[in-house]
Amino acid sequence: MRKKLYKATAKSPANIAFIKYWGKKDPKINLPFNNSISMNLSNCFTVTTVEFSSRFKKDRVFIDGKEVSAEKKNRVVNILDIVRKRAKEDFRAKVVSKNNFPADAGIASSASAFSVLALAASKAVGLNLSLKELSILARLGSGSACRSVVDGFAEWKRGRDSQTSFAIQLASPDFWGLRDIVAVVAKEKKKASSTEGHAAALTSPHYKMRLIGLKSRIKNLKEALLKKQFKRFGQLLEEEAISLHMVAMTSKPPIFYWNKGTIEIINKLDEWRAGGLWAYFTMDAGPNVHVICQQRDEKEINKRLKNLPEVVFTIINKPARGTRLMNQHLF
Ligand code: PMV
Repeated sequence: MRKKLYKATAKSPANIAFIKYWGKKDPKINLPFNNSISMNLSNCFTVTTVEFSSRFKKDRVFIDGKEVSAEKKNRVVNILDIVRKRAKEDFRAKVVSKNNFPADAGIASSASAFSVLALAASKAVGLNLSLKELSILARLGSGSACRSVVDGFAEWKRGRDSQTSFAIQLASPDFWGLRDIVAVVAKEKKKASSTEGHAAALTSPHYKMRLIGLKSRIKNLKEALLKKQFKRFGQLLEEEAISLHMVAMTSKPPIFYWNKGTIEIINKLDEWRAGGLWAYFTMDAGPNVHVICQQRDEKEINKRLKNLPEVVFTIINKPARGTRLMNQHLF
């Protein structure tokens, strides 16, 4: 009998949400309440190799050199089960995953992790998914992951059900030379996971208002992005970040993601703008600040950020391509 051995490796970027996904309409399938908009990050990525084989007795998952179990493993196995079912295969798998950013830096890795897993696992088992199907599969692992599969700038259309909720491309990576300088201000593990934050969001009295306000904010931000109107874009970006964090801070129980360093950067950006240097902030479910600026100001802003006492280090990102297959396997 021919010995079956299926193996594939892929690479995928994390993404920064300009319009955020916060709160789930259906938590089982990560269906959001609103559309969201993002940019893929060139310097925050995950590489994953998946192998299915009759030699394996059980699924095993290794992330950054350590075998994971419980909830972390279950989320991966959930995706493996979906592709196995679709391909009518029953082999167990070995999954080895590496992030290029430090695991303890508080940089969200679920977007890169689940988009790369969707491609590597589906290819390994012999499925050839379309971009739409790949986005849907990635979404089932982690909502934000559905935006990492397309190149450059993405919009996740919230949809009505699983088949209609996926990301499409808004613009290619070279459309606009934006930079996302991630200022890492905390290396401790984050306080509440995004899963907990999504669940708590609906308990905030401000959640309904956020959804109402989002209608015009999404339209305006998309327009500012496509017309490359940086200052208008930046103001909307900050408004949106504050809206998410206000919901988090007023959830029951409240979640405060910001720390001293977060506030320090918010104040500094205001000061720098008054002096004619243009950059704006956004944060995901953590204290680190994503400082968005134009290519021409990258060096100066990075220098100033690194000089701030609360900043541990920075990561400079350009708009990047989406999930890709790789030739070299990790094992
Ligand atoms: O994909 P999740 O479930 O980890 O949620 C991501 C939530 C935010 O990063 C805060 C916002 C977003 O749209 O990426």
